[in-house]
Amino acid sequence: MIRVAVFASGGGSNLNALLEAVQSGRLDASIVLVISNKAEAGALQIAREYGVPAVHISQKSLPSDDEFNKAILTALKEHGVDMIALAGYLKKIDSCIIREYKNRILNIHPALLPSFGGKGMYGLKVHQAVLDYGCKVAGVTVHLVDEEYDTGPPILQRCVPVEPDDTPETLAARVLEQEHKIYAEALQLFAENRVKIQGRKVSIK
Ligand code: GRF
Repeated sequence: MIRVAVFASGGGSNLNALLEAVQSGRLDASIVLVISNKAEAGALQIAREYGVPAVHISQKSLPSDDEFNKAILTALKEHGVDMIALAGYLKKIDSCIIREYKNRILNIHPALLPSFGGKGMYGLKVHQAVLDYGCKVAGVTVHLVDEEYDTGPPILQRCVPVEPDDTPETLAARVLEQEHKIYAEALQLFAENRVKIQGRKVSIK
């Protein structure tokens, strides 16, 4: 069974959805570790409620970037982690971690990439930009993580309609509902060893 670590900086609703998917048998994986760079992250609290080891690893309390990355890698090794799922983790993942977990780090982004992604595009800003552009559809992307923000190849994408009277908040809520389904589905594809990756080309067997 694949052993997954979830990295989260915020409330952790995606983490919660993944834990529920495991519990209900929709996701054949074990969530063995949750890492947050924010001590007060709701995600840490959720992890503890589920009895999942939850650690706060912050750059601020470590002497250098190197030490920070080492602390993360050590925690991942200690818990025998095979895959990493970023769920609202707002720090860029260092290339040393990407190398170590090549093609085994996923992120979920609340838009149809490559639109509305990149540095600074998170939270309600994404949905505001979708509405400002006048898009008729929004969506969700689960993608592999590379060295840049939101540029790795997509694994799964799903459309979400934009309604005429949407605000960033109502659109975010509709998108989040889909996020909570698609992330477990994407991880399940890895659990079943159905994802073939050749450069940017990802095919699902
Ligand atoms: C989600 O919208 C996710 O797509 C983005 O950050 C948000 C995290 O929300 N990367 P939550 O903490 O899982 O509720």
